[in-house]
Amino acid sequence: MMRAQVTGLGSYAPERVLSNQDLEQMLDTNDEWIVSRTGIRERRLALPTESTSDMAVVASRRALADAGRVAEDIDFIILATNTSDTVFPSTAARVQAQLTDRPTPAVDVQAGCTGWIYGLTLAKATIESGLYQRVLVIASDKLSSIVDYEDRTTAVLFGDGAGAVVLEGRAEGALGILATYLNADGRGADLLIQPGGGSRWPASHETVDNRLHYLKMSGNDVFRFAVKAMPEAIEQGLARAGLTVGDMDVLIPHQANQRIIESSMRQFDLSECQVVNNIGRYGNTSVASIPLAWDEIRHQGHLSFGAVIVLAAFGSGLTWGSVVVRWGKTS
Ligand code: UT7
Repeated sequence: MMRAQVTGLGSYAPERVLSNQDLEQMLDTNDEWIVSRTGIRERRLALPTESTSDMAVVASRRALADAGRVAEDIDFIILATNTSDTVFPSTAARVQAQLTDRPTPAVDVQAGCTGWIYGLTLAKATIESGLYQRVLVIASDKLSSIVDYEDRTTAVLFGDGAGAVVLEGRAEGALGILATYLNADGRGADLLIQPGGGSRWPASHETVDNRLHYLKMSGNDVFRFAVKAMPEAIEQGLARAGLTVGDMDVLIPHQANQRIIESSMRQFDLSECQVVNNIGRYGNTSVASIPLAWDEIRHQGHLSFGAVIVLAAFGSGLTWGSVVVRWGKTS
């Protein structure tokens, strides 16, 4: 059987910084509240002219270069996002066209901040089944396009960014994606939502006047869900790989709130050097938060060959899930 191995990793964060001090000028908030409740100090914002697909293309090119591949080598493109360039067509199709003139199957996956975990799982399945050999799995979100900068309860949390991996089939060995775990519970669908602009509430003067095209979140409810969902995702992913928390070398959690990350650390008695945390500099970049953090620690040299990495996320839907990877590649 084939196993999906990570052969390339890349990410992109826009240059423009929105600091807590900037937000203090815009809203009734303050640095002390934001840092103590979330751990966030600044976040990156895309330019108004820069779309989700533009960020995705930069991250993809970096991942392809890291893999020593060109876009024409890719058999399938999966793009996770919650902020598609337009409602349709898919952002993945636009990214495909920017990467290569060669028609290539491309699809968007939408599963809240867990979208990239879903994308990796689908890619793994297509590789293991023999359907595709090389899959590009992208995460890109321009949250600033749907954040209400008049709503202090959400405006302080989110940032923009993108990340991507190239997955390639290799004869089953120790390295690569060992297991994944996915779940969803739509009873919580209204807890984190962009209500306006879809088929339920098509765009109208009324939806715009009521600010329904902005992200709405019941923060406390999502927080309560997250502190249960994250440990479950971590344990379930590891169990499917035949491993336990003691086998995990590195946890890369979705960067939504420092207190949620610390809650998982306490639950499993993890040390700071086992858990990746860059939320202070990027805020919550939704689907992009895990690949951004992964790429960052890889460049810092913190990943040793053979390390067991757990990627774990939760998000709107409600959704949650994990991917267990043994780091390293073979040619
Ligand atoms: O990717 C998945 C996405 N979402 C999440 O992971 C979010 C999960 N939830 C959270 O991270 C937290 O619930 C928040 C950070 C959103 C909020 O933190 P909290 O500790 O749950 O605060 P709260 O909503 O209970 O609000 C406490 C107080 C309220 O004032 P009163 O009613 O106690 O007077 C809020 O109005 O803090 C106030 N508040 C703020 N104050 C200053 C809310 N936002 C702000 C703000 N600045 N930005």
